[in-house]
Amino acid sequence: MDKILIRGGAPLKGEVTISGSKNAALPILAATLLTAERCVIRGVPDLSDARYMVQIVRALGAEAEFKDGTVTVEAKKVRTHAPYDLVRKMRASVCVLGPMLARKRKAKVSVPGGCVIGPRPIDIHLKGLRALGADVRVEKGCVILEGKNLTGSTVFLGGRFGSTVLGTDNVMMAAALAKGTTVIESAACEPEVIDLANLLVKMGAQIHGIGSPTLTIHGVEQLHGVEHTVISDRIEAGTFMAAAAVTRSEVTLKNARVGHLGAVVDRLDEAGVKIERRGPDLVVRGNGDLKPTDVITMPYPGFPTDMQAQFMVLMAITPGISVVTEKIFPDRFMHVAELARLGADIALEGPSAIVKGVRRLSGAPVMASDLRASAGLVLAGLVAEGQTLVNRVYHLDRGYEKLDEKLRGLGARIERLQ
Ligand code: EPZ
Repeated sequence: MDKILIRGGAPLKGEVTISGSKNAALPILAATLLTAERCVIRGVPDLSDARYMVQIVRALGAEAEFKDGTVTVEAKKVRTHAPYDLVRKMRASVCVLGPMLARKRKAKVSVPGGCVIGPRPIDIHLKGLRALGADVRVEKGCVILEGKNLTGSTVFLGGRFGSTVLGTDNVMMAAALAKGTTVIESAACEPEVIDLANLLVKMGAQIHGIGSPTLTIHGVEQLHGVEHTVISDRIEAGTFMAAAAVTRSEVTLKNARVGHLGAVVDRLDEAGVKIERRGPDLVVRGNGDLKPTDVITMPYPGFPTDMQAQFMVLMAITPGISVVTEKIFPDRFMHVAELARLGADIALEGPSAIVKGVRRLSGAPVMASDLRASAGLVLAGLVAEGQTLVNRVYHLDRGYEKLDEKLRGLGARIERLQ
């Protein structure tokens, strides 16, 4: 298993290009199952989760090729059962449910297990698909859907933690080929959901209210092939903003969309990190005085839960007390114990972490646990004195394209050990 070794203390400088969005690409690759015609998806990041979704699409009967950031899919035929050993490893594979139901009027997918950030239920997905007339059963760890006559209806997709991103995706994709009109209330508004909706419209779907909490979808007979470029990854961009901040550096981000990062820019600005547009680029100035800043994760346009660990690392070295509250995945604090090994002073209090800034972190071997916690540990290693060895780097490779290479390109003393 690969490890990443970082010798902290090097300032960053220069520019880095942000890759395509993992969380836009995954449902978009699932959406190619909605048509028998050829789909060309560009700007797909070369990460294990993306390669995984291509494998799942292939296992479901489609021809698919992934080369130089472009995925070409022709789903002339679609099977209705996603194999367990593929689905269990990536929770996001649940987003093939909607397309399979829409295309084949039946689907069978293993119920995704939990993961380290907490249980990952799909009850709201199933509520939405039932509302379209699907018969839903759970048997032997598989969810089985039958829906001969998918018919549009109105459904509320808000849950205890707000809306559901992949749940909105699944219901929207099924509704696109259902008879009649579907209204999704409390739909997720994340940029990745907008990107999927825009792709579906290019395929011939009729969707109104894109980007708002109420989506209206008029079902059509069939969808046609499409060419589409995935939006850039706002969480990768936010991660590099945090990297510039923790190393007190100035870094230029290329291909980042500041419009998708309002809450992150707002909290970083509050913390003393200035971000400004320079033409199509973003300049991040992390060399000012840092101020303790509270953050609460919320559904978009609130502060993204996927940036919580990265922001916590910045607060861990910011003099004063900051409160980081996680309202989307209450268990998403696996990084706290590992940061404590580096000398961070963080106390957990229910859904909140009380972060007392320390003067310095000191390097040590740490264990990655989930994708964004791993990114947080790498950021901590950039600023910790001495060497930090991050184990189980496969977590990182799921969601970041060449993160160590990109950081090295900015001057970080970071290397990957086989
Ligand atoms: C997407 O996951 C992202 N993954 C996650 O990013 C992200 O953290 C999450 O949205 C929230 O923004 C992809 O897009 C592939 P949810 P998703 O359904 O759709 C609860 C990363 O690091 N819920 O919006 O699975 C759920 O438990 C990953 O890139 C139900 O209760 O998340 C959570 O508390 C991690 N019932 C909350 O809603 C349901 O049926 C939000 O989950 C569905 C969700």
